[in-house]
Amino acid sequence: MMENKNIRIPMVDFKAQYQSIEKEIDAAIKEVLFSGQYILGPVVKEFEEQVAAYCGLKYAIGVASGSDALILALRALDIGPGDEVITTPFTFVATAHAIVHCGAKPVFVDIEPDTFNINPALIEPAITKKTKAIIPVHLYGHPADMDPIMTIAKAYNLYVVEDAAQAFGARYNGRKVGSIGHVGCFSFFPTKNLGCYGDGGMVVTDKPEIAEKVDILRRQGCLEKYHAEMIGYNSRLDAIQAAVLKVKLKYVDQWNEQRRNVAHHYNELLSGLSVQTPLEAPYAYHVYHQYTIRASKRDNLKQFLLENGIETSIYYPYPLHLQEAYKFLGNKNGSLPESEKASQQLLSLPISPELNSSMQHKVFLALKGDFLNDV
Ligand SMILES: Cc1ncc(COP(=O)(O)O)c(C=O)c1O
Repeated sequence: MMENKNIRIPMVDFKAQYQSIEKEIDAAIKEVLFSGQYILGPVVKEFEEQVAAYCGLKYAIGVASGSDALILALRALDIGPGDEVITTPFTFVATAHAIVHCGAKPVFVDIEPDTFNINPALIEPAITKKTKAIIPVHLYGHPADMDPIMTIAKAYNLYVVEDAAQAFGARYNGRKVGSIGHVGCFSFFPTKNLGCYGDGGMVVTDKPEIAEKVDILRRQGCLEKYHAEMIGYNSRLDAIQAAVLKVKLKYVDQWNEQRRNVAHHYNELLSGLSVQTPLEAPYAYHVYHQYTIRASKRDNLKQFLLENGIETSIYYPYPLHLQEAYKFLGNKNGSLPESEKASQQLLSLPISPELNSSMQHKVFLALKGDFLNDV
């Protein structure tokens, strides 16, 4: 076994990114501390305006997390009991939880084997009289195939809510993800391509009625203080997080480019090994939130890499339709085969804008070591 105790490559290195913009971040946080306005307020408003402009949309509403962004977006579309929402089972649990939190029923449709995103060809057969919306997820930073999804949505009069939590800055045929459907949802969880130092999220849209309703919902359902128009939530973006995000927004395109360079270098390094490297579809500007390979003996590979100092992650070890929480839907093992296979074979390698080529080479050597071990 190849063993080198001295190397340790983490999945992400938060400290390295903070150090690269330390002065700006510290100053921005201090400004908020002195302002005395810690929840919503002018800094949040400025950040919202910047994100709306970045997406080429009219409205952006800062909320407490990406999970809440999805819940509030669905609530703003009046999705509730008796409704069905089509989505992918190969995503973070929050995507489907949001549907259930609104009282609606998730309907899972299998994924494409190469992009790992919802397969548009399988959506139409899943539509019933109860279907109200489709939630495509831009998994790992690769956009879902939006044109056919929007065509189906138009034909059946359905809403499209983009779960763009993992894909800030990604583009589909030149259009920013989050701006293609009726509503887009972002997460600013620290690991995300645009991440803050706590929880944060955002809903983006061009529709004033949706923006207004999300704004009311995030303030306990009150447009006017202490006068509830609807049952709402406490889900507002903190000013400190918005100040951090405002600084980071200036760098996100550059960081996404650096992620792409890291990914392309991995593609070259791994080309001789028997793993499947990630696809970038012709319509996609992939922002590599994750660099995810497919390997037949995934669990052994993960263990070997760990023993050699390389951290990896499995996103996601169980597709949603087979999880305890979703048993009530009655989905069976084997019903969504591509998602099930992906959950057994996919492995995400360390990636961040800061990952240098010597670290990447170490990941490559460890991977190669595993395959040499295997013959
Ligand atoms: C695809 C997807 N949807 C939703 C979320 C929820 O975002 P948050 O963690 O900010 O609530 C995440 C975050 O991990 C995600 O990856």
